[in-house]
Amino acid sequence: MAEQEIDLKKRRLLTNATSVVGAVGVGFVAWPFLSTWSPSARAKAAGAPIDVDISKLENGQLVRVLWRKKPVWIFKRDEQTLANLGSLDAELADPDGSGNSKSQQPVYINSSHRSIRPEIAVIVGVCTHLGCSPTYRPEVGAADLGGDRWKGGFYCPCHGSKFDLAGRVYEGAPAPTNLVIPPYHFVSDTLIRVGVSPVDFEKNTVNKA
Ligand code: FES
Repeated sequence: MAEQEIDLKKRRLLTNATSVVGAVGVGFVAWPFLSTWSPSARAKAAGAPIDVDISKLENGQLVRVLWRKKPVWIFKRDEQTLANLGSLDAELADPDGSGNSKSQQPVYINSSHRSIRPEIAVIVGVCTHLGCSPTYRPEVGAADLGGDRWKGGFYCPCHGSKFDLAGRVYEGAPAPTNLVIPPYHFVSDTLIRVGVSPVDFEKNTVNKA
């Protein structure tokens, strides 16, 4: 009986290990745009995680990858941009994500910059109103988006929702919540794995490469 239990545990362990290895693909950056690569059509359809090399990402630069058939933006914010994020609370519908937007981000994302590393943002690029993909408008002071009050962000051309550079929605926009932050973690200093949290909450272990 004890041997059977051990066998079953071994088999489960092997199955899990195979699933994890099979699910992970690697993406390569072709600047200035990012082309995504996935291990197979079947894995892609199943929502395989994707790896993104950010070693050449510069301040203000945004790359777009596809994960689970949705655009995911990865972009780099400089110190001024991070400081601006802290000054926008009064203009936002749910600045700290504790209201309607609570379910829009993993539990390990809990600050105004809504990211694991402050300078690197990872956001699902789908408007939370009716699903259009907002445009990247990082230019501070853009006249058509509020002039001096605009600190850079995203503008949805479908019905006019505005989001800041942390994906937080502006007050009064049709979009009801902040943009979604997907699960992700840093495999290394320059490699992000989108689709897998830094911690396996079921096993209470840290996810590594
Ligand atoms: S879909 Fe973005 S504002 Fe309506």
